[in-house]
Amino acid sequence: MELDLSELSSVENTLIEKAKELMEKAYAPYSEFFVGASVLLENGEIFSANNQENVSFPVGVCAERAALAYAIGNFPDQAPVKIAIVAKKQGLDRLANVTPCGSCRQTINEYELKFKKPVEILILTPENTVLKAEGIENFLPFRFKDLND
Ligand code: THU
Repeated sequence: MELDLSELSSVENTLIEKAKELMEKAYAPYSEFFVGASVLLENGEIFSANNQENVSFPVGVCAERAALAYAIGNFPDQAPVKIAIVAKKQGLDRLANVTPCGSCRQTINEYELKFKKPVEILILTPENTVLKAEGIENFLPFRFKDLND
């Protein structure tokens, strides 16, 4: 669903703001595509990160996976309940359209499985609206989730 910023809760606004803040600090000299992500844990803690690229391109890490690893690395028993994502092309004032890549979708799925709870996904658009999805199922239907089924 697409929401106006004014329709977000205060913690959701904080998540978006932190994601924007971290987006500005991304290390993306190769793509010049700056991404910030903020994760809200069940206990109210917020962890934010950005993409970190590498001269050997596949070694780079996306903002979402960096933020999730940092958050759950610190609080392994706290479910991530929301993740906010913001992106822009370096040098442009307007935001870019972004959605999590396949690896990040599979990573979000992993934490949904671990904690048996959906992770809400919030994406700030160039029009300053927010795309809100209730969980990773919206981004990754028919996902692989059981080795023994
Ligand atoms: N990237 C992210 O960090 N998150 C996304 O959702 C999309 C892509 C990064 C990876 C790479 O550093 C750059 O953006 C261009 O793909």
